[in-house]
Amino acid sequence: MEIIIQPSHYQLAAIASEIIRDALLRKPNLVLGLATGSTPIALYKALVRMHKENGLDFSRVTTFNLDEYVDIPREHPQSYHTFMAKHFFDHVNISVENQHIPQNTAENHEAFCTAFEEAIVRAGGIDIQVLGIGTDGHIGFNEVGSSLASRTRIVTLTENTLAANAIHFGDDISAVPEMAITIGIGTIMEAKQCLLLANSASKSEAIAKAVEGPITSMVPASILQTHPNTVVLIDESAASDLKEVEYYKRSYANKLKLQSQ
Ligand code: F6R
Repeated sequence: MEIIIQPSHYQLAAIASEIIRDALLRKPNLVLGLATGSTPIALYKALVRMHKENGLDFSRVTTFNLDEYVDIPREHPQSYHTFMAKHFFDHVNISVENQHIPQNTAENHEAFCTAFEEAIVRAGGIDIQVLGIGTDGHIGFNEVGSSLASRTRIVTLTENTLAANAIHFGDDISAVPEMAITIGIGTIMEAKQCLLLANSASKSEAIAKAVEGPITSMVPASILQTHPNTVVLIDESAASDLKEVEYYKRSYANKLKLQSQ
């Protein structure tokens, strides 16, 4: 894991967008794994700016979203279909047929999940997987206790996730859909690179457990310790429970020094 600590989430978004831009310039048919939630919004803004101001071309990009609520209309303001259109897809030139978001119904979900996994393989696998992290360490909607080898499937959300997401449903926990379809942890681990973003003190405990704690299904993000190419991008508040902050900062400073030589 490479740990990059920055003063604010704007710098995190800038670094993550530069990683994606550089990969896209090297490989125009890049396959991106995308997340929703408040964390990646600044990243999407930065990528949209690169598209509008510098002509960054997404025309051959394929995307796979991590998750979607089940039993919520696609047009619902809080569906992840709506989120992605609003924050990213409506502002860049990714063709609609290359955008993949898990379905929003429980109908034939087993066949859907198998087809979703097959589509990822057909696209050549995910090159860069963008991830946020729940306060309990979940990634995608792989809740605590998820098999670390899990694949795309339908899941029931924990009370913790329902409570955290109630803010988007008028603070009414009963309005948050209880089930979702999520890419599995095994699926995420097959991405060539993972970018895990987190900001604010509410994520500090989850980040400390994911980065420095034991690998356990009770902290799903902890499996990323075994991923060969994961970059953890966090602000000072999210880093505040890490033991080795100074070492991570020194390592990153040395990397920048080497790059500028
Ligand atoms: C959403 C997702 C979730 C979120 C996590 C953090 O697609 O994969 O794992 O990344 O719940 O959400 P925020 O960013 O809203 O704190």
